[in-house]
Amino acid sequence: MDFNLSEEHMLIRDAARDFAQTVLLPGVIERDDKQHFPDELVKQMGELGFMGIMVDPKYGGSGMDTISYVLIMEELSKIDASASVIVSVNNSLVCYGLENYGSEDQKQKYLTKLATGEFVGAFCLSEPEAGSDATSQKTTAIDKGDHYVLNGTKNWITSGGRADIYIVIAQTDRDKGSHGINAFLVERGTEGFHIGPKEDKLGIRGSDTHTLQFNDVIVPKENRIGPNGSGFRFAMKTLSGGRIGIAAQALGIAQGAYEFAIKYSKERKAFGTEICNHQAIAFKLADMYSEIEAARLLVMKAAKDKDLGNNYDRSSAVAKLYASKVAMDTTVEAVQIHGGNGFVKEYHVERLMRDAKITQIYEGTSEIQKIVISRSILRD
Ligand code: CAA
Repeated sequence: MDFNLSEEHMLIRDAARDFAQTVLLPGVIERDDKQHFPDELVKQMGELGFMGIMVDPKYGGSGMDTISYVLIMEELSKIDASASVIVSVNNSLVCYGLENYGSEDQKQKYLTKLATGEFVGAFCLSEPEAGSDATSQKTTAIDKGDHYVLNGTKNWITSGGRADIYIVIAQTDRDKGSHGINAFLVERGTEGFHIGPKEDKLGIRGSDTHTLQFNDVIVPKENRIGPNGSGFRFAMKTLSGGRIGIAAQALGIAQGAYEFAIKYSKERKAFGTEICNHQAIAFKLADMYSEIEAARLLVMKAAKDKDLGNNYDRSSAVAKLYASKVAMDTTVEAVQIHGGNGFVKEYHVERLMRDAKITQIYEGTSEIQKIVISRSILRD
């Protein structure tokens, strides 16, 4: 086992760190406050290759590995988890899904634009009555020969109001259960496709989350992804990769909060010395550091599994389960270390604490990760 990053990986990490510190940091509090979707930053992230990190260069991507992806996700998330979730969904749910399961025509038409950041993608699985229980899709797609007719509601859709192309999961044959589900590409602006109001969220407020309504939307047959009935496995496979991205996001949120806490504890004085000299604070820092290190190893293990072609369903679930808990615990402690200042926006840690919570919820709650992990270990 080699725990050292390669020269190339360090360069990629440094480029993402530099972008996060110089470009994301200055406006991050205002974007959070105003729930501002960072269109201009998405364009820049596209130019840097962050919107199609793992996509083959022949489709406009950066052709990098999953280790590079998690390094970039960690650096962006240290500062701005709203920007990083746009990157994560675009990369691991939309680009990955299209590149690995889409037709050549779909790749030429959509992936080339998604990988460069010209298009933003959204992944629409969750419904009002099908969140964790993803097989219970109520959205239907009725086969009409050369097209499908799509009806239903999707909610909590990341980039939902801003995306150009939407991967929509729908039931095509209820009797077949999870084998009667398909994934479709639906373009923004298609007749009958309505974007509902933006959600007013606790965290990742700069990302754009909406309910979507599909009323008799006509979807050409060539917009179905993969063979008939493969939509549920498509969703599960893409989500396994997505969970690596969200685990890396959680890691970054934790690392960001830790770095703010270290800095503050070396500056702030109480009882005649910098507060880091008090064991009550120093022990908190030691716990944070140890837990973040453990989370990072799990995230890297999952990324390495994917790069090596190993099954990563279990390792991605473990990484997300653990890293999201570390994100929550670390950010709460970072606020505590900052005392009253931790409760104030300009010190950043309250935002990171609010942002951390969603990593225990989206792309499968922590409880769902435990279902995935326990089923997997019991199959051993
Ligand atoms: N890869 C391939 N196939 C898989 C699979 C995987 N990872 N997981 C399941 N399958 C297959 C199973 O083998 C099974 O196939 P067979 O019928 O041929 O045996 C079929 O799919 C059904 O699987 P299960 O019986 O395990 O299905 P289940 O109803 O028990 O549900 C679950 C499994 C893991 C709980 C699943 O429903 C799940 O992951 N739920 C969480 C959904 C989720 O993560 N939602 C996040 C929304 S997206 C989001 O948040 C994006 C965003 O915007 C940020």
